[in-house]
Amino acid sequence: MYNNTSLLLHSDDFKPNTINWKSPSNLAIVKYWGKHGVQLPQNPSISITLQNAFTQTVLSYKPKESKEEGISLEFLFHDEPNEAFKGKVHAFLESLLPVFPFLNQLDLTINSYNSFPHSAGIASSASSMSALALCLCSLEDELFKTLQEDTAFDQKVSYIARLGSGSACRSVYPKMALWGETEGLAEASNLYAIPQADAIHEVFHDFHDDILIASKAEKSVSSRAGHALMEGNIYAAPRFQQAKDRLARLRIALKEGDVDTFGTIAENEALTLHALMMTSDPSYILMQASTLQMIEKLRNYRKDTGNPIYFSLDAGPNLHVLYPERIIHEVRPFIEGELVPLCEEEAWISDWVGDGPEQV
Ligand code: PMV
Repeated sequence: MYNNTSLLLHSDDFKPNTINWKSPSNLAIVKYWGKHGVQLPQNPSISITLQNAFTQTVLSYKPKESKEEGISLEFLFHDEPNEAFKGKVHAFLESLLPVFPFLNQLDLTINSYNSFPHSAGIASSASSMSALALCLCSLEDELFKTLQEDTAFDQKVSYIARLGSGSACRSVYPKMALWGETEGLAEASNLYAIPQADAIHEVFHDFHDDILIASKAEKSVSSRAGHALMEGNIYAAPRFQQAKDRLARLRIALKEGDVDTFGTIAENEALTLHALMMTSDPSYILMQASTLQMIEKLRNYRKDTGNPIYFSLDAGPNLHVLYPERIIHEVRPFIEGELVPLCEEEAWISDWVGDGPEQV
């Protein structure tokens, strides 16, 4: 869709420069799990954009000194060379040469920072891939002035981020984003996410998502492998239909400010995601005993107090605790007193629905 052979530089006569973006992670409320083709989702998904869990990526470029073909890249993570990350980013940039042929003509240095500890067990692909996509599209625009219009810029960023990591395409927008063809929403696409801030009630604009770190360990089965296992999962077809039905109900709840329906769907989706892992072949479990203890405590607390506090999970053991801003003073003592002691080294991150990427 974006292949463009005309994006080539005709001289070395441009100033070396640096581009710097901060881009957040996101939490899916209706989950994307299962893909086909080139990073296309089997069902539509919708997420909240986070504020505090972000990647900051600094891309420096200058005319290429050598005549060698291919991507010339230096990659640093928190100012240190990181060969594993470099290999992944190098392969990703090579795959993008038909879209950004000018990358062949530059020496690139990328320095990336995560706001959260690398060992926190928090998936960073959504924030890192969206930050990289933002830098690349800014670079294109700086050199060729081709993405001056905001919607065109955002759409291309989301498309590129998706190729890096599916869920990353939703990190591009403030508040909430929707990715995947959706009945009754003509502008929705499998190729990129679309913004949803204007489609949601204000109660969701500052919703909290405290991330309780049940384990800091890297997960034992990658998302890539998890998606692939959906191909043999006998529940796959009904699951994809279920996600569509839940999204339709959730979109109404988001518009009306119906927190209970939002929370109920968030919990059901989290447990469905993990049930799909448990029913894959081979089966696997990413939740920890402490994840289940926290879920039980949270549900008991909700029952006892009537406070609208809910949970979600990503593809990992950490509990995302969701609640509206108006009850923060009531629920924080519960979270800190009852849930945080169950976390590895009492680690947790206070986060909330955020304003989307920011150019630094
Ligand atoms: O973007 P990926 O390929 O890492 O997949 C992420 C999938 C979930 O985080 C589990 C769900 C989602 O929609 O973000």
